[in-house]
Amino acid sequence: QDVCSSLEILCEDSHTGVKVWMLYTVFEDVDIITRSVKILNGGKEELYLTKVFSACLDMDNRDFDAVSLHGSWARERQIQSVPVSHGKFSVESVRGESSHQDHPFMALKTKGTDQDQGEVYGMHFVYSGNFKATVHSDQFDQVRMTMGIHPEGFRWKLLPGEEFQAPEVVLVHSHEGLGKMTRTLHDFYRKHLIRSVYKDQKRPILINNWEATYFDFNTDKLISIARQAAELGIEMLVMDDGWFGKRDDDNSGLGDWYVNEEKLGESLQDLIQRINGLGMKFGIWIEPESVNEDSNLFQEHPDWVMRIPGRNPVRARNQLVLDFSRKEVVDYIFEQICKILDLGVEYVKWDMNRSLADVYSCAAKDQGNVFYDYVLGLYDFLERLVQRYPNILIEGCCGGGGRFDAGMLYYTPQIWCSDNTDAVDRVRIQYGTSFGYPVSSVGSHVSAVPNHQTGRSTSLKTRGVVAMAGTFGYELDPGMLTEDEKQEIRSQIEQYHRYAPLIQNGRYYRLTNPFVSEAGAWEFVSEDQKEVLFQAVMLEIHGNMTVNYVRLKGLKRDCLYQEQTSGRVYAADALMETGIPLPTAFGEYQAYQYYFKEVEES
Ligand code: DGJ
Repeated sequence: QDVCSSLEILCEDSHTGVKVWMLYTVFEDVDIITRSVKILNGGKEELYLTKVFSACLDMDNRDFDAVSLHGSWARERQIQSVPVSHGKFSVESVRGESSHQDHPFMALKTKGTDQDQGEVYGMHFVYSGNFKATVHSDQFDQVRMTMGIHPEGFRWKLLPGEEFQAPEVVLVHSHEGLGKMTRTLHDFYRKHLIRSVYKDQKRPILINNWEATYFDFNTDKLISIARQAAELGIEMLVMDDGWFGKRDDDNSGLGDWYVNEEKLGESLQDLIQRINGLGMKFGIWIEPESVNEDSNLFQEHPDWVMRIPGRNPVRARNQLVLDFSRKEVVDYIFEQICKILDLGVEYVKWDMNRSLADVYSCAAKDQGNVFYDYVLGLYDFLERLVQRYPNILIEGCCGGGGRFDAGMLYYTPQIWCSDNTDAVDRVRIQYGTSFGYPVSSVGSHVSAVPNHQTGRSTSLKTRGVVAMAGTFGYELDPGMLTEDEKQEIRSQIEQYHRYAPLIQNGRYYRLTNPFVSEAGAWEFVSEDQKEVLFQAVMLEIHGNMTVNYVRLKGLKRDCLYQEQTSGRVYAADALMETGIPLPTAFGEYQAYQYYFKEVEES
């Protein structure tokens, strides 16, 4: 498709013969420019690239603040804003993954910028490994922002005649605040990055057994979960960690990608058939990049892991990282995984539960290539999966949202947003995630209460509303639900079917900032502005509370909208200028969901 055009600017160093192309690709339909560089060693001697940033923007100082995303496990993508000053400010990862801690995103905004007004210049990296983004103000108060592969651990050998192509950075500009920046990025990723047959399709509503059983399950348990879930209208069962090798906890088994029939009680084929017999799809969890020392794979191939010779390896979650910079390692694991997927799997959750340390490959000639080659090995594996199984839905995951980035999104149209399934915490995590990523990519589930990560209890409605602002699913034991709760889930599922196209394809508006407001509120508006879904969660409750008026956005002025449950009709201007008063109900963490349709003139 002729959707973009590229400008190539060639810079040549006559002394060494090195040629550098700066590549600018313009996606006019969505108002995005991507930027990268290609380097050719046109000289006669080998050379080493030690710093290759993909993008650099020099600008007049407009008293910018730098917006970035930071976090940790279970607290991903929190927002930070700091004034740009003399001296460098950077966000970066050297964990071999884009990471829970920092995020490959940075935006400069002028003072006073909010969701609707102000200038914003953003950079977003299409890459899943080490990165560095910096900004500083120079001696003349000019501002420079850069983004690219982190120089630490990077020393790429380039022989005469060889080329190095750096990953792309997405450049986004908005003169209508952070909201417009987000909608531009959402459009770009939905139209030009995300692939998969599921790109524009409603995603199956799944039930995942992780928080219901953890490692303690067999096929009887899974079938019982699936049977009850099917009765509620859930469309897919996902069997999480614990089905393979010797895997009853996280000490052993990773790397042995064959079914533990003794534990399950039957073959995977039989299980899949029985799940399909219930009218459900079957999905499976894998973690191809990791290995436990207590596994057959490690016993057979101890040299396949990353570790520094002569030193004890760094273990995290009791596991080591396989050396995906080596093709034979990728080939072997790919073959094992294919034997499983060939049995009729329709969804894969690709997990990775630690970051990289001891980055040393005993097979590499140049250790400076290993960090980057690892990511290429990962992408190679994922590309083979996508090609061989075009109909499988792949969900990325990395101990929750530790590798939620645009690089992964190219292979996995949805990514598990966080291991924190608490609805109140999720409002904030999903708020930060929404800055760069379309809601169709945000894995989100309703789990049991008290919540397993926080101990907090929220209503089923609140959990449903928050999970619906993502790829909706459940992660609980339906056997523990009351009849009333089951009935409520049936109606949540009906709602999801109704709203899914709007949630997936609509324009996304952040209506409040849940880091400072008493309410978290957001909204989806259809392209033609005829349909609107408003969702909100009260994050605080007080006696004699001041009313929070939440103003809607993006409606057609001078038109009327009817709320579909109450039947009440409102003027668009009233909804946008006065807003919806919250809370209207008594009690903690109440959720509100209003679905409006434009009243067409008869
Ligand atoms: C971390 C994931 O984020 C969880 O959802 C679950 O799949 C566990 N890993 C399984 O080990």
